[in-house]
Amino acid sequence: MNLGKELHYQYRSLRLVRGFLTGRFINCNLQITYRCNFKCQICDFWKREHNPAEELSLDDIRTIGRKLNEFGTIIISLAGGEPLIRDDLCDIITVLNATGHFPILITNGWYVNETVARDILKAGLQEISVSVDYIDPARHDSQRGCPGSWGRAVNALELFQKNRPDRRNRVHMISVLMDDNLEDVEALIKLSREIGVTYMINLHSWNRGAKARRLPDKSVTRHLLDLKRKYPEFVTLTSYIENLDQAILQGGVGDCRTGRLLMNIDNCGNVARCTERLDEPVGNILKEDIHELRRRLWNVCDTQPCAQCWTSCRGFAESMTKAPRWRQYKEFLHSVKPR
Ligand SMILES: C[S@@+](CC[C@H](N)C(=O)[O-])C[C@H]1O[C@@H](n2cnc3c(N)ncnc32)[C@H](O)[C@@H]1O
Ligand code: SF4
Ligand code: SF4
Repeated sequence: MNLGKELHYQYRSLRLVRGFLTGRFINCNLQITYRCNFKCQICDFWKREHNPAEELSLDDIRTIGRKLNEFGTIIISLAGGEPLIRDDLCDIITVLNATGHFPILITNGWYVNETVARDILKAGLQEISVSVDYIDPARHDSQRGCPGSWGRAVNALELFQKNRPDRRNRVHMISVLMDDNLEDVEALIKLSREIGVTYMINLHSWNRGAKARRLPDKSVTRHLLDLKRKYPEFVTLTSYIENLDQAILQGGVGDCRTGRLLMNIDNCGNVARCTERLDEPVGNILKEDIHELRRRLWNVCDTQPCAQCWTSCRGFAESMTKAPRWRQYKEFLHSVKPR
């Protein structure tokens, strides 16, 4: 890494740590597209037609990067839809990096080949996660509505890991924890270990659209904490895992801080507190003052308490600002350390 890039990395890291310490915005989910080539049972985005002409342009994304920079360095999760569908993805990553943020990305892995893997990491992507929900390829393909998707996802993990320009670039396998895959988690962690990547989970959320509730029907925390102790590759934060039983058995985790620590920006620039509440935007980042939007987000957070989900983006942001901080910081450093 050259000196300029190294200084930029250190500068952004310090500003991110300041965000952790002062309880500022830490992450932002940015839907750069809702288009997708899959038809997952657990997701609704593919059910509607989405016009690419209505999506944020590169200039829009530069404006968003600059406006968000007023709050500090933010982890911007390029989401979707399937983000690799955008053919200007490398430019998007470069722009968000240049405006002072850490762009990360979640993908179904379908469009990844050697060139794509190399180019998007070189463009400045800090971290990439590939979704794999089951150890059995047929079950994954069936959930994802796309034959061959498991093989392409595993291949994508291998290509990303092999093409990292820097040992600090993180590659994760990520699974949605549902009613029928708790028993797969250990095998998925072992597969991650074989590939050389780390492993994370995200609890199923049934808020997006009109989906069936597909949470596990029993307590999971003890089993997952045992796996975390056994496998250092399992990098989901302990405090996230500790709250899973409450989310599953009591129907939610209260005192949600999205709106203060996290926001969602959709494919047209509409700002909402989280991905589960896309239909309740507080305004549009391209048209309105960012500080006014923050005021509205804070207000929503304070006046409309919500406990309806325990998604990993919410769990991460809250964990990093809550006690015991030393434990979360130690685990976060372990998850991002050079490998
Ligand atoms: C919406 S997808 C976008 C990225 C990409 N298309 C993918 O599937 O990896 C982001 C993440 O949310 C997960 N996801 C989809 N539906 C979900 C749900 N109902 N609850 C929790 N996570 C969900 C996906 O598996 C993926 O890991
Ligand atoms: S691949 Fe991702 S965006 Fe596409 S349908 Fe599945 S979860 Fe939704
Ligand atoms: S608990 Fe928080 S993240 Fe979940 S739906 Fe409610 S506001 Fe959104």
